[in-house]
Amino acid sequence: MTLNTAFLYLLIIIVFCFQTKKKIVIRKLDMCKGQGKYPVMFSNATTSYNKQSQEMWFGVNIDVDKEVSNNFTMAFDFIRCDASGNPDSCEYVIKNYVNKEICKYMGMKNQAWTVFVDYVHPPLKCPIKPATYKLVNSPVKADFLRTLPIGDAVWKVTFRGYDNDVYLACVNLELQVIPFVREGRRG
Ligand SMILES: *[C@@H]1O[C@H](CO)[C@@H](O)[C@H](O)[C@H]1NC(C)=O
Ligand SMILES: *[C@@H]1O[C@H](CO)[C@@H](O)[C@H](O)[C@H]1NC(C)=O
Repeated sequence: MTLNTAFLYLLIIIVFCFQTKKKIVIRKLDMCKGQGKYPVMFSNATTSYNKQSQEMWFGVNIDVDKEVSNNFTMAFDFIRCDASGNPDSCEYVIKNYVNKEICKYMGMKNQAWTVFVDYVHPPLKCPIKPATYKLVNSPVKADFLRTLPIGDAVWKVTFRGYDNDVYLACVNLELQVIPFVREGRRG
């Protein structure tokens, strides 16, 4: 397998977020470049949008080659760029925020991310056994977006996963947040 086949290009997800009056476009989701094969690989990301119900679904396969213990840890970077995404405008808002209790958060109910965890088959729980996990038709909820510290801009978010000191995966997500104006209506 070449590294290229592991890259995911999510072309466009548009999420209408009525509560915050923002439109979110996921411009890209892929494995971080230039670092070879990881014990955890994401592939086959898909999205679909139902115009009538204005609902968005998200799917992805997660290949886990190596058991992940209860010490599953994630580190996050949030980089904000101007609305055009011009690289010169980009700056770190959060750099290397480390959370060592990902297993605890994964097990919580009624949280913004629960909707993603609940739609994974087989069920995702720690310790995470080697398998191909599939996130199928997970609805993308506005609730999730409200928990992100995001304003109108292009955001580049990097997630790095570790098990103790073992590097598991690195994923880049690029989001664009634009003020949402309902067409042809007011209020
Ligand atoms: C991704 O989709 C292709 C084509 O449907 C399939 O052959 C492949 O096994 C899938 N990858 C994973 C990890 O499921
Ligand atoms: C998790 O981390 C603690 C503290 O570093 C360590 O004592 C423990 O052995 C680790 N558990 C596993 C399953 O690796």
